[in-house]
Amino acid sequence: MTGTRPVRWGVLATGSIAHAFAEDLRLIPDDAELVAVGSRSAAAARRFADRHGIARAHGSWRDLAGDAEVDVVYVATPHSAHRAAAALCLDAGKAVLCEKPFTLNLAQAQDLVTLARKRNVFLMEAMWTYINPAVLRMRELIADGAIGELRSVQADFSIALPYDAGHRLHDPLQGGGALLDLGVYPVSFAHLLLGVPDAVQAWAHFNPQGVDDNTGILLGYDSGAVAVLSCSLGTQTAQHASVNGTLGRIEFARDFFHADGFVLHRQGREPEEIRLPDSPGNGYTHEALEVARCLRAGATESPYVPLDGTLAVMATLDAVRARIGVRYPGE
Ligand SMILES: NC(=O)c1ccc[n+]([C@@H]2O[C@H](COP(=O)([O-])OP(=O)(O)OC[C@H]3O[C@@H](n4cnc5c(N)ncnc54)[C@H](OP(=O)(O)O)[C@@H]3O)[C@@H](O)[C@H]2O)c1
Repeated sequence: MTGTRPVRWGVLATGSIAHAFAEDLRLIPDDAELVAVGSRSAAAARRFADRHGIARAHGSWRDLAGDAEVDVVYVATPHSAHRAAAALCLDAGKAVLCEKPFTLNLAQAQDLVTLARKRNVFLMEAMWTYINPAVLRMRELIADGAIGELRSVQADFSIALPYDAGHRLHDPLQGGGALLDLGVYPVSFAHLLLGVPDAVQAWAHFNPQGVDDNTGILLGYDSGAVAVLSCSLGTQTAQHASVNGTLGRIEFARDFFHADGFVLHRQGREPEEIRLPDSPGNGYTHEALEVARCLRAGATESPYVPLDGTLAVMATLDAVRARIGVRYPGE
C-alpha cells in the first residue's frame, strides 16, 4: 500500500491479547483502522466485532485472509497455531504481524520467513519490546558509550499463575510453558543487546504435563559477555532487567519488556532517572505504528524487528528446549 490513509487491520483470533490490541488500534485513528476479525467460530467473531465496532466478522481464518479490504492481519492465536494462521494469510498476499513467540520452533519460523520473502509480503513478530521508546532510548545511550562495553545482561519475566491443566500456558498442545511465553522476552532482550550467543545452558522444572514452569538460562558470548535470564509461571517477580557495562549500568526496576523508563548509573556520577512519556493504552500502539510506517514505505520487514533477528531468537529458544528437554506434540 502507498499513501497516508490508515492501515486496515484484520485481527485473527478473539482472545485476551486480541482485545488489548484492538483497543489500542482505536487510539491511532490516523494510522490504523480495524475493519475485520476472523475466528474459528462465527459466533466468537460476531461477539468480538460487536464489542469493538468492527464492520466485518469472519467465521473462518480463510475468509479473513481473503478479505480484500484488509491490508494486514494480526495473528493472536496460541503459539501452536501461529505458523498455520500466518501462512494462510501470507499465502493470500496479506501482510502479517504475528504474536510472540513467533512460532513453536525455528523450523516453523523459517517456513514463514521463506514464504513471506517468496511472496514479497510484509511479516513481523509482535516483539513490542523492540519498539518500546524506553528500550530505543537505552540503545541510543549504549551506542553513545554511556555504560562502556557491555559485559552482562540480567533479565527476568515471571508471573504467578495457579496450575490449570487446560490453560494455554500449561498445555503442551497449545505450546505451553514459561520459556516460549515469558522467556522469549529476556532471550530477545539479550539478543538485542549482545547478539547471537555462542553457548546456551539452561535448567528447568516441569509441570505435570511436561512443560517448563521455572526456567533458568545462561547465554555465553565469545566476547566474554554473559546473559543470566529466568522465567517462571509460579512466582510474581518485579520482571526486572539490568544491562551492565565497563563504565556503568542501566537498571529497569520492573516490567523491563514494556517500561516507560529506567535508571542510568554512570561510573562516578549520580544515578540519572530517564523517563519517556507513558505509552498510551495497553502499550501496543508503537508496534502498530511501526507496521503502518513499513507498509506505507513499501518495506517487507521492519528494521527494528528484523526477521533474521526473530529467527536467531527462535534458534536460541530451540537450544534452550534441547537443554531442558521440552518437546511439543508433533516435533
Ligand atoms: N504481546 C503481548 O503482550 C502478549 C500478551 C499476551 C499474549 N500474547 C501472545 O498472544 C497469543 C495469544 O495469547 P492470549 O493470551 O490472547 O490467548 P487466549 O486468551 O487463550 O486467546 C487465544 C485465542 O486464539 C484462539 N484459539 C484458542 N485455541 C486455539 C487453538 N488451539 N488453535 C487456534 N486458535 C485457538 C481463540 O480465538 P477464537 O476462538 O476466536 O479462534 C482464543 O480466544 C500467544 O501467542 C501469546 O504468547 C502476547
